[in-house]
Amino acid sequence: MGKTTWLGAVAGVCLLGAVVALVSRPLEGRPVTEREAAVDSQVLWGRQLVISHACGDCHGGQNNPEAKGWLAGRMDTLQDFRVGPFITRPRNITPDNTTGIGRFSERQIFNALRFGLRPGETPDVEITGNTPGVGNFPEIPKYLAIPMPWPSWRHMSDDELWAIAAYLKRGVKPVVNKVQDSDGPPDFWASEYTEEKIGKYPAAPYPTANEQ
Ligand code: HEC
Repeated sequence: MGKTTWLGAVAGVCLLGAVVALVSRPLEGRPVTEREAAVDSQVLWGRQLVISHACGDCHGGQNNPEAKGWLAGRMDTLQDFRVGPFITRPRNITPDNTTGIGRFSERQIFNALRFGLRPGETPDVEITGNTPGVGNFPEIPKYLAIPMPWPSWRHMSDDELWAIAAYLKRGVKPVVNKVQDSDGPPDFWASEYTEEKIGKYPAAPYPTANEQ
């Protein structure tokens, strides 16, 4: 074998190795399937984040995308929450157009996770401030009901939140399940979501008095 052929063979083997490594890169502790390799990686990343961030604990299916009712919202009174005098209900976050999040844009879902703004009552725009009245953050915000844990998840990166939005809109099959609206106070929970109660976004610089 001539020198150039040798080099070609070595390069070929390396390339093949790289492709195999990419396709069989472990995902959730197992190799990637062929179908997964063909899917937009943003959707798969969003799926991993949804599974690992307890979305299904409230929205249905726990952490199992094979479960009946995966992300389809409250189906039983057992999934209701009592918050003071109010009953709140995890919504259908599958992309059904009438009963789920199908009619919302990925940006509206992003805004729900980053700012807690109800996608049904917040325009499809980039939000430029972090507190009511700053930038175009609504002066009288309509927040998602407790206990939707957006005050924690807003600290995920932009890319992570976009990936979750991509998975919900494009990776999940629509399920028709009408969830009754949550009850809530007239201020749409604004007095529960002050900086004193939920901390700053972005979080205070490290280290705070609790950290070393
Ligand atoms: C502890 C329970 C709980 C968990 C965990 C949870 N949610 Fe929610 N979520 C709710 C409740 C309750 C509502 C309804 C709020 C309302 O009615 O105002 C809601 C509403 C939403 C909405 C708004 C839907 C709409 O139509 O207005 C989105 C989007 C959403 N959740 C996404 C998520 C995602 C993504 C995760 C995981 C990262 C998640 N939720 C985890 C309780 C939860």
